[in-house]
Amino acid sequence: MADQSKFSKMLSRIVKEKSSSNEDACNFNETCSDSQKNKLPFSISDEYRTFDNHPLWLKISTMKDLASRFGIEDPFFKLQENVHGTLTTVRGKECINFSSYNYLGFNDHPGLRKTAMVAVETFGTSVGASRLVAGERGFQKDLECKIAGFYRKPEALVFVSGHATNVSTISTLFGSEDLIVYDSLCHNSIIEGILLSGARYFPFAHNDLQILEKILMTNRSKYKRVLIVTEGLFSMDGDVPNLPELIAIKEKFGCILMIDEAHSLGVLGKTGHGLFEHWAEINTLKQCSGVYSQKNVNELMELYSSSVDIWMGTLSKTLASCGGYIAADSKIISILRFYAPGFVYSVGISAPAALSANKAFELMEKEPERIYKLRSNAQLFRKLVSSKGINTGRSEGFSVIPVIIGSSHQAIKASEELWNKGINVQPIIHPAVEEQQARLRFFITSEHTVEQIVETTVALQEVAKKIGLIK
Ligand SMILES: Cc1ncc(COP(=O)(O)O)c(C=O)c1O
Repeated sequence: MADQSKFSKMLSRIVKEKSSSNEDACNFNETCSDSQKNKLPFSISDEYRTFDNHPLWLKISTMKDLASRFGIEDPFFKLQENVHGTLTTVRGKECINFSSYNYLGFNDHPGLRKTAMVAVETFGTSVGASRLVAGERGFQKDLECKIAGFYRKPEALVFVSGHATNVSTISTLFGSEDLIVYDSLCHNSIIEGILLSGARYFPFAHNDLQILEKILMTNRSKYKRVLIVTEGLFSMDGDVPNLPELIAIKEKFGCILMIDEAHSLGVLGKTGHGLFEHWAEINTLKQCSGVYSQKNVNELMELYSSSVDIWMGTLSKTLASCGGYIAADSKIISILRFYAPGFVYSVGISAPAALSANKAFELMEKEPERIYKLRSNAQLFRKLVSSKGINTGRSEGFSVIPVIIGSSHQAIKASEELWNKGINVQPIIHPAVEEQQARLRFFITSEHTVEQIVETTVALQEVAKKIGLIK
């Protein structure tokens, strides 16, 4: 009752304020001549009528000036003229491609192409509106069922963008009375979600779980829910966190654990289940030497997967589609289904995207040799590069292999030199990474041939010598 009267008082105050400001505007219009009506009682600087002096535009134009002064072609947004795979064509020139997340080669898979074509013929190119507005489709539910089963979780929810999945999920589930502790190298979509949530937040040094524990020891008691969020396979460095230790910490401090599997799905674990399969395999091996109580890989997978509260992934990398997903318990999924803005106020996933992602899951199960081939390609690449005295950073040799160059300018130069030798690899420069960590980032796929890998590492050695990285 008290709330109601407070609410109606507030409402009448807002109505009053609105109508009096409208009255003022009307009075002003009535008492002014025509020329005065077009004059504002304040001035607006010309600077704020355009983006000519916008700080971000100034940054971009400085970068472009710098590149042209050094005679370097802009390495970004090159127009690629064919399907992205192990080869790419730019202005008629064919190059070996290391800039695609097509980890298991599904983007060009005839089965996937056919599925997408049939999907368009049957259901059209779009579902037209948000699922809350337009209703559900069977293919959306089927994909979610598949994802939930894959992570051994009761439910899953699919969004139309991987980036929006993180932003919407984190900002919906956590608020100002909560704390979020995240790995300092987490992806932008995680950081954006954290900022939007209004929660207090702390980064912990990359993969340093002792620091994570220290932060929790000091801060856990001051907050309601505490989220620990990290990635399964880091997209800039190619290393993995210690999942069993993360689970132990989460349980000790009563936290929620979220893992972004964007780069680990289809890459880690013999069957591509990602981080939990990876650790189940490692710890099954260790327990053979008597370190752990006897559990087989499946039991450990079950244990690790169910201990992670929120599994996040994207459809755009291994699955060669577009969109993102969350697999979690039914309460979390219900909250997201009704309140996550990126789901509620955004169109539902289309048939070609949903059905091709579902097909890619099926192919991953049917063709596990792709995962094996990816692993052996990546390990060969890393071994050859390291043997030439070139620094591959923290990469564990799964699919992402950085070559640390050490300055943004040199990284751009190295990328251009390799381009001239018929190899396409993107430079990663400041501010995406620290200046002295500027690098070339190689994405290895199951489709690269041994010849392509050898040719590339030889070219890389020549370029590294030319830019003074090695002798
Ligand atoms: C770790 C991580 N999470 C989320 C995303 C966003 O996924 P998407 O590109 O499918 O929107 C990316 C994209 O590269 C990523 O690397």
